[in-house]
Amino acid sequence: MLKTVVCVSGGGTNLQAVLDAIDSGRITNTQIAAVIGNNPGARALERAEKHGIPGIVISPGSYPDREAFNAAFTEKMCELAPDLIVLAGFLVRIPEEMVAKFAGRIVNIHPSLIPSFCGVGYYGLKVHEKVLERGVKITGATVHFVNEGMDEGPIIAQKAVEVREDDTPETLQRRVMEQAEWILLPQVIDDIANNRLTIENGRVRRKEEA
Ligand code: GAR
Repeated sequence: MLKTVVCVSGGGTNLQAVLDAIDSGRITNTQIAAVIGNNPGARALERAEKHGIPGIVISPGSYPDREAFNAAFTEKMCELAPDLIVLAGFLVRIPEEMVAKFAGRIVNIHPSLIPSFCGVGYYGLKVHEKVLERGVKITGATVHFVNEGMDEGPIIAQKAVEVREDDTPETLQRRVMEQAEWILLPQVIDDIANNRLTIENGRVRRKEEA
């Protein structure tokens, strides 16, 4: 069983997609041990509670400075000792010490085709606003491993989504979630849980089914 901790900040629709996929058997060999949120009001934490999964709140604002928050967050993660950490709409930068301790075991979902529309300042709805401003015709979502950079780790999976002329940031966000995020994230977790991914020279490959 892949012991997994999911980190969330907001609505938690990606968390929900993962929980539903575990229930329906699309993700196997995986147990969600806890959900960590940085915001006590996050709807995602309610979703975890509804599923009988412990929700843990760790807010940067409750610590004297970022260093203290980073230390407490990393310590909590070490106590939980997950095999995999999933950032499912988690809008807090992962402390370097946590990246080092869990190297190759943290994945993030980002709502664009990395390396476009990612990095500092690109999160949530803002990504879709920038996509529309730039006028690109194709966007999508990416699941990648997390390293010390911002949205820079090895790419695991991507899925393209069409941008429509009448899109608003909200309609585009919804389509990217429905057509890409809620499909990709469960698939990647199932691949990791069933040992189907390998990394060679920084490139992730999916092993062919036997
Ligand atoms: C999702 O679109 C996710 O890809 C994005 O935040 C949203 C969270 O929605 N993450 C980022 O922008 C990370 N840079 P959710 O809480 O409903 O899953």
